[in-house]
Amino acid sequence: VGHVVHGDVGRELAGRIAAAVETSQAVGCDPADVAIRVSGRPGVDYQSTIALSLASEQGGDPQEIAAGIAAELDTADLLEPPEIGGPGFLNLVLRREWLEQRATALLEDARIGVAPAERPRRIAIDYSSPNVAKQMHVGHLRSSIIGDALARMLRFAGHDVTPHNHLGDWGTPFGMLIEHLVEEGWTGSASAGHTIVDLDGFYLEARKKFDADPDFALRARRRVVLLQGGDEQSTAFWRLLVDESTRHFEQVYDLLGVGLTPDDSYGESFYHPYLAGVVRDLTVQGLTESSDGAICAFPAGFFNRDGERSPLIVRKRGGGYGYAITDLATARYWIDNRGAEELLYVVGNPQAQHFAMIFTLLREAGWLSEDQRAEHIGFGSILGDDGKTIRSRAGGSVKLIDLLREAVERAAALVAERGGLAGDDAAEVARAVGIGAVKYADLSGNRGKDYTFDWDRMLAMDGNTAVYLQYANARIRSILRKAAPPAGTPVVLADPAERRLMLKILQFPQAFDRAVTERAPHRLCTYLYDTARAFSGFYESCPILTAAPDLRDSRLVLVLLTSRVLTLGLSLLGIEAPERL
Ligand code: ARG
Repeated sequence: VGHVVHGDVGRELAGRIAAAVETSQAVGCDPADVAIRVSGRPGVDYQSTIALSLASEQGGDPQEIAAGIAAELDTADLLEPPEIGGPGFLNLVLRREWLEQRATALLEDARIGVAPAERPRRIAIDYSSPNVAKQMHVGHLRSSIIGDALARMLRFAGHDVTPHNHLGDWGTPFGMLIEHLVEEGWTGSASAGHTIVDLDGFYLEARKKFDADPDFALRARRRVVLLQGGDEQSTAFWRLLVDESTRHFEQVYDLLGVGLTPDDSYGESFYHPYLAGVVRDLTVQGLTESSDGAICAFPAGFFNRDGERSPLIVRKRGGGYGYAITDLATARYWIDNRGAEELLYVVGNPQAQHFAMIFTLLREAGWLSEDQRAEHIGFGSILGDDGKTIRSRAGGSVKLIDLLREAVERAAALVAERGGLAGDDAAEVARAVGIGAVKYADLSGNRGKDYTFDWDRMLAMDGNTAVYLQYANARIRSILRKAAPPAGTPVVLADPAERRLMLKILQFPQAFDRAVTERAPHRLCTYLYDTARAFSGFYESCPILTAAPDLRDSRLVLVLLTSRVLTLGLSLLGIEAPERL
């Protein structure tokens, strides 16, 4: 038995079953409580276990209850008469005529059955969020890819989605970085044309000096105070560092095809003016305590291993501000100033506790109301083939830009091997395939889990990969270049492979709905893979272009709908679907 069905057909079936329960069992029944599942059994489309739940709740024989519901079920035009399976399953089969009409109707529906959200919400989504003056590494890759896919999906669902890139552009490291710039002879002027080729190297040099030279460390600490106090020269140096990093981030976003622009950057520095107000308001509400000269909040329910309450540091000893207070200010800004109803944070699993504490404190302070939501969307790490965190050949952390370039190079070799494309076309497709492979490898597994970065697997032509889907789609596009079905084409689903494919197409809204509600892009990936496989089964057993004209057009409807499902599905994941491959 497969997953619970949401979305249109699922709702329709649940509504009819709930009505049949009410008449046959004389009990109230909310359609929302009727779980409908996609059946894995051949010859059965959907299954409901409602009779089993009713039997365990109120007694009685589940098979008898199921028979009672079946007798009252309004099957009109939608369903074959239901059958009772096993201990009391309701086995549901859609009527062929209904499916056939649905196929013709879907030709006119660019959303392939997905209804726009009944209640659109204003959603602020935090993703990517790398740190300035450091190379972006694979740790930020997942956030960028998952966040971008979720933003696309939520937008398609009809929500008002604003991304924000919470750049780490503030705090103590900038003191030492700026001092290091000064010593390197930088002038603090952009026109001087300074560049940092190796941001990580630069960071490490500064760090080394900071650890080795107490005078330098002292100057660095003073420099932070100057910077945070708005000192002009320090700010100019800081700007240079931010600009330098931003250029580097832009390059990555560009190659990755992630829709983040400089306008979406809201670095930690942006919230600095709000921090004092946050401390004041928390303190007025009695939510802070001083502890060792620092000001801390203790959101309810968080303890360390020794059973002591875990603090959120609101203000450090000496007056500095840190990561936690900035996140409080950030949430408050998006709620109060930008009207966000939902705050989503696509950040790695290690920060789960941080966000849980922030959200609890926001509720305690009354800044996050009942009907507003905050959610941490965590994810696991990317591992190298030794099962440890992925490293470059030289042993350092892998630079994202190098990784992405390698993906495109490998894809170019693959495209060249197939030999159908040349020049700019080949380069464009190599990019789509290479970047698609990296993204899909990231999105197709359960995001909470770690995964192993494996070039061969992610670029395999067979299996649950982007290139498999891209190739299936390109093959379909080539059929459609030869012939396309006219609007209103009647569809015949005589062959079992045709019916199987149409059932898959019909399930697009359910798969999409589930991927959105669970913030689980892999649900969409699995669905697309299943659909592509159903297509290949159909393609093997049903001739298309050589069939008699009526049958040919009918089959072309399925071909066209499959292509729409694949292109739309991939685009919701941020993956391109080239016409030719
Ligand atoms: N810059 C942080 C890091 O690299 C991630 C920031 C996530 N977003 C947030 N609002 N805390 O770990």
